[in-house]
Amino acid sequence: MENNFWFKLDRPILALAPMAGITDSAFREICMRYGANVAYSEMASVSALFFKPQKTLELLKFNAPERPYVVQLFGKDPEHFARAAQIVSSKIKPDGIDINFGCPAKKVFGHGSGCALMPQIDLTRKIIHAVCENTDLPVSIKIRAGIKDLTAIEFIEKIKDLPFSTVMVHGRTYEGGFSGELNFSIVEEIKKIIQDKIVLANGGIHLPQDGMEILRKHPLIDGLGLARGVWGKPYLFSQIKELYETGRFTEYEFDGIKKIAIEHAGLIWKSKGTLGMFEIRKHLCWYTRGFPNASELRQKLVQSQSVEEIKAILQEKSMFITP
Ligand SMILES: Cc1cc2nc3c(=O)[nH]c(=O)nc-3n(C[C@H](O)[C@H](O)[C@H](O)COP(=O)(O)O)c2cc1C
Repeated sequence: MENNFWFKLDRPILALAPMAGITDSAFREICMRYGANVAYSEMASVSALFFKPQKTLELLKFNAPERPYVVQLFGKDPEHFARAAQIVSSKIKPDGIDINFGCPAKKVFGHGSGCALMPQIDLTRKIIHAVCENTDLPVSIKIRAGIKDLTAIEFIEKIKDLPFSTVMVHGRTYEGGFSGELNFSIVEEIKKIIQDKIVLANGGIHLPQDGMEILRKHPLIDGLGLARGVWGKPYLFSQIKELYETGRFTEYEFDGIKKIAIEHAGLIWKSKGTLGMFEIRKHLCWYTRGFPNASELRQKLVQSQSVEEIKAILQEKSMFITP
């Protein structure tokens, strides 16, 4: 426990939740610069790591400013999890390993991985064992509030003796998908069952007040996992922290947001080069939500090929004159 970074983080812990296609190295770093305490990778397939690890290992690489950095694994075969835990621990050397028990996406769930594992307690236990026995790193899990007639509380009761240290609970059930009702009381109940472990609440946090509300209503919870709410708003982490500590928070004006967008573009260029210039486009659309002339601005931004071009478009004064 002494070497487990989870127990050394300030409270509330504000985590960048794993998001496939989003939480790459550049996004993790920009979120850490603006207040995240820990950053998860995109989910990585244990079978890919078992059979042909090179490409996945490339995707999982990280830089020091992203730490503490947690690699998330998904799959269904305990043997693949065991090998993947060894490879990730020795080759990537992150600060923690997470296991995905929450994904409802067809290509994951349909193969018996992600949230499909929650009702299969024996297999779940084997997978957690396989990871814990094959790494010295702290192991965490990410789950949903329930699936079919199994609640997350019943699930946790059946695995609470295993040596994972943290659980992030998405407050929606499997059936609730990405927009269903959120239940954070269940997250607090889970913390009561596993008081010696860290419990984070995830889902629907888009404004500083959303995060604050969860922490105020459920004070036992150790922290929050932020996902779609930080699209174009990596500073949501520092706003939540500020609101928690002082009762108010700093609003970001267009100039501040532009600066962050350019910073993010620089990071993605550094890690992915030209390919990154395609990937930054969705982020630029999110950053410029609510800007005057947003659609005209986006049309220009999605054609940009370099950080210099992005900078020039964002700094062009005439783009920001409200008609
Ligand atoms: C585009 C996208 C990709 C995601 N990828 C992952 C993933 O790789 N692993 C995972 O455990 N959850 C994944 N999630 C789920 C999020 O981590 C989070 O649990 C969910 O979006 C609910 O939080 P939110 O309402 O704040 O977005 C993903 C969600 C989205 C929208």
